[in-house]
Amino acid sequence: MNIIEAIRTRKSIRDFTADPVPQHILRKIIEVAVRAPSAENSQPWEFTIVAGDILDTIRKTNIEKLKSRALPHPDLAAEGLPRDSVYRRRQIEIAKQLFGLMDISREDLEKRDRWMELGFRYFNAAAAIIISVDRSLSYPRPIFDIGSATQNICLAALNYGLGTCIANQGITYPEVLHEFANIPESKRIVISIAIGYPNWDFPANKVVSEREPVENITTWVGFD
Ligand SMILES: Cc1cc2nc3c(=O)[nH]c(=O)nc-3n(C[C@H](O)[C@H](O)[C@H](O)COP(=O)(O)O)c2cc1C
Repeated sequence: MNIIEAIRTRKSIRDFTADPVPQHILRKIIEVAVRAPSAENSQPWEFTIVAGDILDTIRKTNIEKLKSRALPHPDLAAEGLPRDSVYRRRQIEIAKQLFGLMDISREDLEKRDRWMELGFRYFNAAAAIIISVDRSLSYPRPIFDIGSATQNICLAALNYGLGTCIANQGITYPEVLHEFANIPESKRIVISIAIGYPNWDFPANKVVSEREPVENITTWVGFD
C-alpha cells in the first residue's frame, strides 16, 4: 500500500474480531511510529500497550464508572465544541452517519447507551495503546508530537491488516489506567488507541467520514 492510499484508507474502526494481535507486530508498529517528528527531537511519547485480562478489567472498571455517572476528568480535557459552529455541524454529521448505519434512533436511549459504552471498552479491540507524557514537560506542547505519532500508528497498523480507533473516551477515567495498567502518577495520560483486526460485518465500520473540500479550508497566497 502506498502512502497516499494508506492515508485515504485509514478510518476509525469501532468493532473488532476476538483475534489477538501478536506482540511482535505491535512492537513493529511502535518502532516505525516513533519516526514521527517531534519538537527538538524531544520524543515526549510513552506507550503502554494493554491486552488480555488486564484490558478486560480496565474495560469493566471504565463501564462501572460510566454507569455510576462518575464525573469525567481526563488529563487531556476535551471541551465541548462551540454551539452553532461549523465544528459542531461536522460533529453532528458524523454522529448522524454512525447512528444511521447502526440503526440507532434519537429516542432509543438503550441503544444510545450501548453505543456510548463502546469507546470506554476500547471498542472490544484485542489491544489498547495508551500514550502518556511525563508531567515534567510543559503542557500542551507535546500534544502536537503525540498527534503525529498517533497518526503513524494508525497508518502503520494498516500494513498488518489491523484497524484502529483513537479514543478520548478510553482515557476519561485516568485513575483506572494508572491503577491497572501500572502507569505512574508522574505521567499524564493523553490518548488511547484501540487496535485489532476489524470486524467488517459491524455496520459502523462501513462509515466513510466526510471532509471539507480543499477550497473551503485553504488560502493560496502568491500564486497566479
Ligand atoms: C483526539 C481524538 C479523539 C477521538 N475520540 C474518539 C472517541 O472517544 N470515540 C470515538 O468513537 N471516536 C473518537 N475519535 C475518532 C473520530 O471520531 C474520527 O477520527 C472522526 O470522526 C473522523 O473519522 P475517521 O477517523 O473514520 O476518518 C477520536 C479521534 C481523535 C483524533
